Amino acid sequence: MTDQNETDASPTPLDDVPWADVAALRAEVAELTAVVGDVSKRVRQMQRVLTIVNRQTREMPADFQAIQEFLARFPPRAALPAVGGWAMEPSALLWMVEHIARQRTGLVVECGSGTSTVWLARALQETGGRLVTFEHSEEFLAVTQAQLEAHAVADVVDLRHAPLVPTQTERGEFSWYDVDTAGLDEIGLLLVDGPPGNTGPLARYPAVPTFAGHLAEGAVVVVDDTSRRDERDMVDHWLSEQPRLRRDRQLGLNTEVLRVE
Ligand SMILES: C[S@@+](CC[C@H](N)C(=O)[O-])C[C@H]1O[C@@H](n2cnc3c(N)ncnc32)[C@H](O)[C@@H]1O
Repeated sequence: MTDQNETDASPTPLDDVPWADVAALRAEVAELTAVVGDVSKRVRQMQRVLTIVNRQTREMPADFQAIQEFLARFPPRAALPAVGGWAMEPSALLWMVEHIARQRTGLVVECGSGTSTVWLARALQETGGRLVTFEHSEEFLAVTQAQLEAHAVADVVDLRHAPLVPTQTERGEFSWYDVDTAGLDEIGLLLVDGPPGNTGPLARYPAVPTFAGHLAEGAVVVVDDTSRRDERDMVDHWLSEQPRLRRDRQLGLNTEVLRVE
């Protein structure tokens, strides 16, 4: 018979394991795993930024060419308003002014004023059309008004202060422009470039539900900032809700044109 005490006292292979070191190693491995996770997350972020920079760099010649065409078409009457960043890209602006010239667009409605207001007005001044622009910010309304005067196009534009107010839609309530749509019929071009995205999710969604009944046949809806998820979702919602609306074309990386059939 085996003596129990004798068995307990006999050495086992586990007795030689340095348990304190194992615990320290485990902690170190966990720490390194977290670091590797952070590094690979950062690498993915950097790859995304590089992809955007790469795409934007490829668009630069087109934008440069568009600016040259602008200058040839509309000799500047004052310092040029900014393009890119908060304002639309030159190639998208050029497409709109050429569209207005080709189609002899009578009425353009714009949500969000700025550089585009000046160039749309220059195009409409030549065709005898008019522009109604809604702007929520009194500060930027004054900036845009000064630009319109400097470029001698203020008479073409009805620049309206439209504070953001609770606006009911089939998709719920949004904080959107306080607009009066009376008299805004047969809109040939609707530019959706405001309010700023940080005013709420799907911030610009009410534009099409509000103006759908006022769009002329063949009208175009120009949507800026479609490189953002919110704007792409908004376009998908419009397309599923408005049977007359179709995708028409992409302008550069950040702007999409829809067309009313
Ligand atoms: C996306 S921007 C729209 C600008 C305009 N559609 C354009 O492309 O030039 C939206 C908002 O930027 C603001 N904004 C206008 N002029 C600005 C300026 N000079 N600097 C910064 N923001 C401006 C206005 O409140 C405007 O509604």
